[in-house]
Formats: sequence, C-alpha cells, structure tokens
Amino acid sequence: MLPRRRFYSVPCMVKAPGQFGFLSALVRIVRGRPHVPPAVADNPLLQRILRRRSVRRYDDRPLPDEVFAAILEAARVAPSTVNLQTWSFALFTAESWRATFGRPIPFQAQRAVIVLADTHRARTVFEAFPRSPLIEYTIGVMNAALAAMNMTLAAEALGVSSVMLSETGRSGLLDAAYLKDKLGLPDGVVPLMTIVFGYAKGPRPPMPPRLPLQEICFTGCYRETDPLVMRRWLEEMIAGYKAAFPRSSFEAQLHVYRSRIGQAEQELRRLVLGDDTN
Ligand SMILES: Cc1cc2nc3c(=O)[nH]c(=O)nc-3n(C[C@H](O)[C@H](O)[C@H](O)COP(=O)(O)O)c2cc1C
Repeated sequence: MLPRRRFYSVPCMVKAPGQFGFLSALVRIVRGRPHVPPAVADNPLLQRILRRRSVRRYDDRPLPDEVFAAILEAARVAPSTVNLQTWSFALFTAESWRATFGRPIPFQAQRAVIVLADTHRARTVFEAFPRSPLIEYTIGVMNAALAAMNMTLAAEALGVSSVMLSETGRSGLLDAAYLKDKLGLPDGVVPLMTIVFGYAKGPRPPMPPRLPLQEICFTGCYRETDPLVMRRWLEEMIAGYKAAFPRSSFEAQLHVYRSRIGQAEQELRRLVLGDDTN
C-alpha cells in the first residue's frame, strides 16, 4: 500500500480531486446512466447489454453445468475473421483453478475461462501462408475478444454475472509466459484474459464513468477530445475507485500496472514476435 501523499502525484494529466470535487464526481457516477431513445429502451437484449456490469463479489450458489455449457456455446458461435475461429478456452472450476495455480479462484467465483488468441490451430491447415505475427496476433485478439464478449452477454441473459481480468489472480499483467508454461501453450497461442463467472452477491455496482458519445464518435476528420471532459472522467475514475476500494486507490492500481508493464511487454514480444531483445 502506497503512502497517502503519493495519491496526489498521479503522473497523469490532472491532479486528484479535492474533497468537493471528489463528492461531485461520486454524484456524477451514481447518476450516470446509459442513454437510449425511449422507443427502443424496452428491447430485452439491449437492456441486458446496458445493464451488464463487471461483478467482483459472488455468492456460493453453484453454476449448473448446462448454464456454463450455454455460455461456452455463445463463444463457439461468435463471429471471426474468415470464420477462422482463432480462439481457445481453458476451463476451470474453483477446485481445478486452485489445483492449477495454487491459489483461490478470483472473487470466489464458480467458474473461470482463460481466453486465448489461437492462430496455431489454423496454421495446421494453412501452412503455405507466410508468417505474419502482427497480423495473426491482431486477428487472434479481435476474434477471441468477440467470443469473450459473447460469453459475458450469454451469462447476463442467464442471470449469471462475470468479470474479465487481465491476469490469472497471480497479480500479474497478462501473465503470458507463466500461462504458456502452466497450460503447455504452443507457439501461436497467447493468453488474453480470464473471465470468472458466478451469481452476484449484493447489489449490482454502479456503472464506471463513460465518456460522452460525442467525444468518442466523429464524422470526417478525427477530432481531439475536450481536455476538460478527460479531466472530469479521470476525477470520476479516481473517486469511484476510492469509493469501491476504500483501502486502495486508483494511483496504487496504476502503480501496479506501471511496475509490471515492462515485463509483460517483453514476454509478449517474445511470445508473439519471437523477439528476445530486452
Ligand atoms: C480485457 C479486460 C481486462 C480487465 N481486467 C480487469 C482486471 O484485471 N481486474 C478488474 O478488476 N477488472 C478488470 N476488467 C474490468 C474493467 O475494469 C471493467 O470492464 C471497466 O471498469 C468497466 O466496468 P463495467 O464492466 O462494469 O462496465 C477488465 C476488463 C476487460 C475488458
């Protein structure tokens, strides 16, 4: 845990908000709602998409096998580049997670899926294609991420909550080399994320602050985002983090990422590009 004063030295664009800014940022978060035209607001699929939240507290109700099977089927039918289906999924129960990684499954969830970008499988039939690691990686990531999203939405439809994690609970970032070793991954199979599933305990968390639609869309030429909008967003992120995790801080979380990003980048370069230079 970092000393409190480091919280005010966030090496980002802005300073952390003062107390008044903190409170008004919290109010903005709690008031934040997705906006959709009333004419379509009742659509059940749209409602599921808008209501989905990353959930980090689960109760001990078991997830029935058929529910988990349906979630996986949603991954299998996801769209993919040239229908290449460049993904693999490593499946875990709480017990098998502990047996594999020697630690509890994150957030006491019932099941976990490690989502892998997998261009290895397709290479077995498309051998004549020249090696193109960046293209393969991009395609692999895109497709596997779409399958991941399909899983979380299928889960929501069945009343099951989830959260995507960029690590395995080993407190790493991607954990690429660790997982290659643990799961015996061949070249061309790269871990992307873990998704844990279970039944939510307690109320649904509020929506973390989203940027306004007009700041993320443009017609014609690219338009820079208003710095004030970014400042407000960062204030809300810091305040929301503090409210959700009172014993930590957004700065502490950034510090974790900063300290791990170099190693994660090196591991990925090695795995994806075969680059051994530091
Ligand atoms: C690829 C990916 C990795 C993520 N990694 C983590 C993580 O390591 N830990 C965590 O608590 N949340 C993680 N999240 C969840 C995000 O924090 C969350 O999606 C974001 O704050 C928006 O909140 P919402 O999903 O409730 O809308 C991840 C999300 C994605 C898509």
